[in-house]
Amino acid sequence: MKILVLSGSPKSEQSATLQSVNYLINRHLAHDFKIIHLIRHLKAYEKGPDQMKPLLDELGQSEVVLWVFPVYHSLVPAHYKRFIELIFEYGLEDAFKDRYGAIFTTSVHFADNNAQDYLQGILEDLGMRFIDGLSHEMKDLLEASRRRELDLFFTNIANHVTQRMLTPRNQAPVPTHRRPYLAGAGGEKIATDRRFVVVTDATDKDRNLLEMIKALVSVIDGKVSIRNLHEVEISQYCLGCCHCGYDNTCAIKDGYREFLDGVIQDADILIYALAVHDRYFSSRFKLYLDRSFTYNHVPIMRGKQVAYLVSGPVSHLGNLRQIIQHDHQGHSNLVGIVSDEAGDDPTVDALIRDLVRKAVDFSHTGYFRSPTFLGIAQRHIFSTMVRGFLGAIFRADYRYYQKEGYLKPELPGLKERGTAMLMRHMMGKARFRNQVTKDMTRHMIASHVKFLEGEGYR
Ligand SMILES: Cc1cc2nc3c(=O)[nH]c(=O)nc-3n(C[C@H](O)[C@H](O)[C@H](O)COP(=O)(O)O)c2cc1C
Repeated sequence: MKILVLSGSPKSEQSATLQSVNYLINRHLAHDFKIIHLIRHLKAYEKGPDQMKPLLDELGQSEVVLWVFPVYHSLVPAHYKRFIELIFEYGLEDAFKDRYGAIFTTSVHFADNNAQDYLQGILEDLGMRFIDGLSHEMKDLLEASRRRELDLFFTNIANHVTQRMLTPRNQAPVPTHRRPYLAGAGGEKIATDRRFVVVTDATDKDRNLLEMIKALVSVIDGKVSIRNLHEVEISQYCLGCCHCGYDNTCAIKDGYREFLDGVIQDADILIYALAVHDRYFSSRFKLYLDRSFTYNHVPIMRGKQVAYLVSGPVSHLGNLRQIIQHDHQGHSNLVGIVSDEAGDDPTVDALIRDLVRKAVDFSHTGYFRSPTFLGIAQRHIFSTMVRGFLGAIFRADYRYYQKEGYLKPELPGLKERGTAMLMRHMMGKARFRNQVTKDMTRHMIASHVKFLEGEGYR
């Protein structure tokens, strides 16, 4: 079997993810692997489709494409995203069509499901036959049980190819049509002392998005600053070197850090105005997020109300909406998402005005929704990581997490554990157990009732 590996780590041969591919190469000698490190070729690919000919030749000879990458900010790394955009921009979908594809990622298991889900959708959009996706923690290769799993993942791929097995399409195609939107003339303005910063990836081609920004600005009677990601000097993709771990200093010296710090300092209310590209936003926006890793796992947008103006079918992209939610769990607050698919022009105008109204209200009242599963799981993963060995590499995280009290073990207190131990013992006795279960629902709200009665609410 001929396998083309599209490797996505900026670290190329030094990639942790690639070590699992090296393992497979040495375990399955009868098969022929060809690895392409996309980061090395991207600049050439950007010059034109001709430059992608060597890759397409390899693709033409392959029976399966293995998409291999580290999870970066809930998705593929920005340069990998750019590669995907080029495939669609150059109309190269046919080269991938009907070929088998599988995904292998490593990460610390934060939002790895979102990264896998995104790429599975892309493979299906390319007409590929998606076989399987395996998500390993970055050290899993060292565990015998995980290596066995990796072997079985590979066997499953081989079985699909040799037996020409069918694969179902799991994600519906994303609608491409966008109704042109024109911002209405002004109307009621919202007076505010809150400082709005709009971060956008809009180009001249993004007419709807530019109109949405116009509509937003026209309803704010206050300070608004618009910052375009195409006007910032960002010289490189994140290197994944973790140089930033000690004191948040990035190894790359360009205009990025000043830009990011400006956004953090200047915004009470942050608006991301973005266009959908395939199943996510642009690779330029992804670059902005990846490079924010300079602050590692510190919630840098803490205290801000954040809203999204989106040009594109975000209502069809549940995975994208979940990625957005990930980023605003407790520390910053997601006010809402308004897209140009919402209705006719007056409806979009009104939704934008109400989005501004809510953002200002929430900023005044301090309304921050508490985290859902997404935020609670995130905190658990990061705190466990920082408490462990990686807390030595991410010293800046360690200091922050210690200051914020995130490093305390999340076990219940001694008193609660003692009561639970006694209860476990007593529940072994039928009479006691029957008494408790008979009255279970009343017990479950006993403390709520006590509180409400005590406060005079009942
Ligand atoms: C910029 C950046 C963003 C990251 N984002 C995530 C993430 O969202 N979720 C996660 O679980 N791990 C994340 N990681 C950790 C990497 O996915 C993980 O270390 C991976 O194993 C690195 O693989 P590699 O050596 O092949 O590049 C991130 C690392 C970097 C440098």
